Amino acid sequence: MATNPSTSRGTWNTKLGFILAAAGSAVGLGNIWRFPTETASNGGAAFLIVYLVCVLLIGLPVMIAELSIGRSSKKNPVGAFRALSNNKFFPLVGVWGVLCGVMILSFYTIIAGWTFSHVFVEIFTFAGMDGAASILADFGNGYVNAIFALLFMALTIGIIRGGVSDGIEKATKLMMPLLILILVVMTLFVVFQPGAAEGLRVYLMPDFSMVTPNLVLAALGQAFFSLSLGMGALITYGSYLSKKENIVEAAGYVTLADVGIAFLAGLLIMPTIFLAQAQGVEIYDADGSFLAGPALIFQILPELFAQIGGVLGLIVGVSFFFLLSLAALTSTISLLEVPTAYVIDEHGVKRKKAALYVGLFVLTLSMIISFNTALIDTIDFIFSVIGLPLGGLLICIFIGYFWKTQSAVEEMKNGFKDIKNSRLISLWSIFIKYICPIIIAIILIRTIFS
Ligand code: TRP
Repeated sequence: MATNPSTSRGTWNTKLGFILAAAGSAVGLGNIWRFPTETASNGGAAFLIVYLVCVLLIGLPVMIAELSIGRSSKKNPVGAFRALSNNKFFPLVGVWGVLCGVMILSFYTIIAGWTFSHVFVEIFTFAGMDGAASILADFGNGYVNAIFALLFMALTIGIIRGGVSDGIEKATKLMMPLLILILVVMTLFVVFQPGAAEGLRVYLMPDFSMVTPNLVLAALGQAFFSLSLGMGALITYGSYLSKKENIVEAAGYVTLADVGIAFLAGLLIMPTIFLAQAQGVEIYDADGSFLAGPALIFQILPELFAQIGGVLGLIVGVSFFFLLSLAALTSTISLLEVPTAYVIDEHGVKRKKAALYVGLFVLTLSMIISFNTALIDTIDFIFSVIGLPLGGLLICIFIGYFWKTQSAVEEMKNGFKDIKNSRLISLWSIFIKYICPIIIAIILIRTIFS
């Protein structure tokens, strides 16, 4: 197998560029859609707290682990495991990661397509073109799903073909500040609407009777998905990182950005659900639980935008779906980059070609899913709910018992001079060797057997 010299793999131009790209990977539909709906259907603040604990105790250590593996090996996930140990099993963990990336991307583009099509649904509704609006809003229409998935994939391929600094870094540097701006303005608007208080109460007042094993699993799954962990996305992004940068600090910023934006999205969505209810929109389904998933974002919220009405309703509606599209795009970029980097490193294909081929391959899967959207839940369950924590578990075992935490700490020393005095690092080693794998394993075993 031909391997390109590492010099041609690309690097991040600036530290901020890297942090925004990694935060862009993290911040996605997972934050603005999945987090608020998981929170809503799992007892509000109780879920929020368990989620924060999962992020701190498991997400952050695993993120530092992935970045160290990536920067040390300067390879895609498959090449990385091969470079750092002679063990024949672990490259398969990399293959699993690449596969998870491909499969998650195949349905993620469809949901991303929905968010983008709803920008037009809002515009058509405003213009009184209800026929066109209802065609676009129909998720059962495979052709519409396929067209918007294609559009989204084309954008993603275009950016990945541009390369690490001229493609990914430039695009995310532009999109992330815009995303944050729209989110903050919209949140401020919603929080001060009369009637928002009920939503804020459910979001911020914990009901600990809701904490069940299933809630913990949901929170852990959400932490992995939201931080983009467990499939080597951050091994790949870490492989483009300069030795000058401090991995631990960077991981802290990325986690903070991800959690901060998820929290803000909750402040936006939870009150919005209750505003919609006050306007007579049904927010519970037949068995009394919150309408979550697509219904929440694509039915409840548009009804609210329609009730706001006029140009203001249009602006709020378009901004909201544009915000979601931006968040989704910075995430599809990272999902496509992983298999692309694999093809570049391991099969010696040039980036432009690799991005196109991999993108078209994933698009083929997306086309099938476009016409069979019921597949989404199954693929999501196998490759994200199970797949990502499983990948995370194996990454912990790899560092703890094969590559060794000491080697990872050596890697972290680059760009982190005071690491010797840092008690955090011995804590990190204990977490990666014992605490993270045990907790993840318990939760996974429970899920598989229930
Ligand atoms: N983190 C993204 C979100 O919250 C999704 C995502 C992008 C992802 N890249 C990933 C999830 C890699 C797992 C692994 O929407």
